[in-house]
Amino acid sequence: MKIGPYDLSSPFLLAPMAGITDAPFRRLCRRFGAGMTTSEMTTADIGLWQTAKSRRRLDLDMDATPRVVQIAGSDPEELALAARLCVDRGAQIIDINMGCPAKKVCRQLAGSALLRDPVLVGRILTAVVSAVSVPVTLKMRTGWDEKNRNGVDIARIAEGSGIQALAVHGRTRACRYKGAAEYETIARIKAAVKIPVIANGDISTSEKSLEVLRVSAADALMIGRAARGQPWIFRELNHYLKTGNKIAPLEKNKVRDIMLDHLDDLYRFYGDTTGVRVARKHLTWYCAGLNQAERFRSQVVRVESASEQIHLTRTFFGVDAGDKHMAA
Ligand SMILES: Cc1cc2nc3c(=O)[nH]c(=O)nc-3n(C[C@H](O)[C@H](O)[C@H](O)COP(=O)(O)O)c2cc1C
Repeated sequence: MKIGPYDLSSPFLLAPMAGITDAPFRRLCRRFGAGMTTSEMTTADIGLWQTAKSRRRLDLDMDATPRVVQIAGSDPEELALAARLCVDRGAQIIDINMGCPAKKVCRQLAGSALLRDPVLVGRILTAVVSAVSVPVTLKMRTGWDEKNRNGVDIARIAEGSGIQALAVHGRTRACRYKGAAEYETIARIKAAVKIPVIANGDISTSEKSLEVLRVSAADALMIGRAARGQPWIFRELNHYLKTGNKIAPLEKNKVRDIMLDHLDDLYRFYGDTTGVRVARKHLTWYCAGLNQAERFRSQVVRVESASEQIHLTRTFFGVDAGDKHMAA
């Protein structure tokens, strides 16, 4: 799939997830074959960009291509300015968030709340597209609520505004994360536009990925929650797509080394104190479902030093990791 000049190496892309898809996690997913990764959403209010959180979110890995920055807001001019500044900082694609149902975002009529106002959607998209020379993409849901599944209208507005690809989470804003993702609506959106469409929602296995590609006819898929604690999912999906067979599970010592590399990158990116805190949730995801996971989790969420966290991880994953994890 191509977005503007960027030919993606794989149709399996990492979905943006605030608090998760920071630069270290994006690097890891790309290493395992994600065709594209996107930054965590950053506010379009540039007055807030001096906070440590925003600065980190805008810290791009200059080795990666394409570098995609997602922005959220509701004011066309504010978003246009934010997009320009992101491009100045090295963004190669600007993604606009109209998919997030978070209250904080929606109260400002940003994120998926914007789907209620198609005229404003058009103004925002046109303003951003004309502000930058790089491709602009849109991440959206299938509509506002079950009675207002206006995803097709929004997709047409997006295409008419010059948006170069659409990622569609197969739920309405009202559904939040409940119920099953509806891929038929994504198929209707795909049929209504010529720009590439990326399907998203509940894709967690190789079999499901092929099924969603088939049902939605999408050009690519975005994987969110299923990548937590198993960034190697992209390697599995790519292999299954190419061969129709499951790839051999990663060896136990490889999994441990991936996690240790991840910890190292987190400490480097955040500094030791914050890095140790951010690492806790990743370690919890990595160990989910394993023997003795609860014991490890309760120990690892208490440690405050990087060396102790590494020691616990090395011990747990070196000695106690069960086969279940490796067969993920
Ligand atoms: C913790 C979390 C944070 C998220 N943050 C963002 C975000 O910053 N921007 C965005 O467009 N979507 C965000 N999403 C939505 C995901 O990108 C994705 O659309 C959703 O999780 C459905 O995909 P999945 O079933 O593969 O997880 C977030 C989801 C989660 C679980």
